[in-house]
Amino acid sequence: MGRALDGVRILDFTHVQSGPTCTQLLAWLGADVIKVERPGIGDITRGQLRDVPNADSLYFTMLNANKRSITIDTKHPKGKELLEGLIKVCDVMVENFGPGVVERMGFPWERVHALNPRMVMASVKGFGPGPYEDCKVYENVAQCTGGSASTTGFDDGPPLVTAAQIGDTGTGLHLALGIVAALYQRTTTGQGQRVLAAMQDGVLNLCRVKLRDQQRLAHGPLTEYPQYPNRKFGDAVPRAGNASGGGQPGWILKCKGWETDPNAYIYFITQAPVWEKICEIIGKTAWITHPDYAKPEARLPRLTEIFDTIEKWTMTKTKFEAMDILNQYDIPCGPILSMKELAEEPSLRKTGTVVEVDHPTRGKYLTVGNPIKLSDSPTEVKRSPLLGEHTDEILRKVLGFDDTRIAEFKASGALGGTKPMAAE
Ligand code: COA
Repeated sequence: MGRALDGVRILDFTHVQSGPTCTQLLAWLGADVIKVERPGIGDITRGQLRDVPNADSLYFTMLNANKRSITIDTKHPKGKELLEGLIKVCDVMVENFGPGVVERMGFPWERVHALNPRMVMASVKGFGPGPYEDCKVYENVAQCTGGSASTTGFDDGPPLVTAAQIGDTGTGLHLALGIVAALYQRTTTGQGQRVLAAMQDGVLNLCRVKLRDQQRLAHGPLTEYPQYPNRKFGDAVPRAGNASGGGQPGWILKCKGWETDPNAYIYFITQAPVWEKICEIIGKTAWITHPDYAKPEARLPRLTEIFDTIEKWTMTKTKFEAMDILNQYDIPCGPILSMKELAEEPSLRKTGTVVEVDHPTRGKYLTVGNPIKLSDSPTEVKRSPLLGEHTDEILRKVLGFDDTRIAEFKASGALGGTKPMAAE
């Protein structure tokens, strides 16, 4: 069976997380992704957070599946010659270097476009045009500058970053969408275009509901926030703890075993249509008709008391027992699943969301497979490439080099020879 992006060839200059997550996704959708890496070192993450000596780290292997690796010194004249050749035969160039790096390398958009007018050139940067455009950015910087940190955490604590990599992987997803849209537009214009996804913009897009609340704040207190009705609101959206970001109040509640298990909790949503059922299950049938509890608006100033009461019930059940009971009545809820539980969950293995992959130097490891399922474009997760594993193959099959040419480039030092850098 074919795959959605069959025939699309990607020149992948990405490193660390934001860019690699984008090109990994495109590879899973069928693109041929050629990852260009610095000779001798490669993507810096190959050596970061290593758990197995002398093997590529999980950081790298979980972000670079289904790619081919070629090593080229992009500062070497012969390396630049190779890149020119690759730009001419690829459809998309993706990079997430620091600001100004591709330009210093000699491949600004104008040049890339002149070399191959059909090429889509896609970049992740920390910021879009503006006061911070020259800044380097990592995940948590983006979370802080994109509005996530100021709105995450509890009211009486400091801003918090989230474990979800919304700055890196989130922006990689945005970029991937931009790339496929540009490829689609190319089918009518015949031309490539520039695609930019800034991490600050991506995080803000994912925090859209908080910008919504910022504007609602001008018209009165945010009645679904835990600050309502007893605590004061300032002029910016406060941190809402575990309150739901939507119109149906929710909170995280303790379950049986919470004293020793840090994940014995459940997220409980008091969705209005199932309020009667909730009252019956927790033994508070009087609340069904009581004017202080019967209607959603009446409940808003009493949410703390309501969730405390529901928690008395959830504490008598394990999170899975609570989930089973609540789901019988369509009451939206979600047990807090640990990474251990997710890694061992059979249904995720079955759908390919969690996949075991074999690797020649590190052995078997788990990775998160393609979370996007297409009925006519199956994903087979293949291990990440070793550094430079496909250099010869790419020179020969993609650039059409013969043995003499390959030997010439090898001898030039363009495929190796740069000094190693410290991992961090
Ligand atoms: N051969 C030779 N040199 C190479 C090379 C290769 N194959 N690949 C990269 N390099 C060089 C570049 O030319 C550049 O050198 P220069 O600064 O002398 O021009 C350097 O390596 C890479 O620079 P940079 O991208 O700035 O790396 P960094 O490690 O200093 O910074 C980031 C890392 C992530 C902070 C930065 O790349 C960045 O801000 N990226 C954009 C935002 C982003 O994606 N952040 C999230 C990362 S998960």
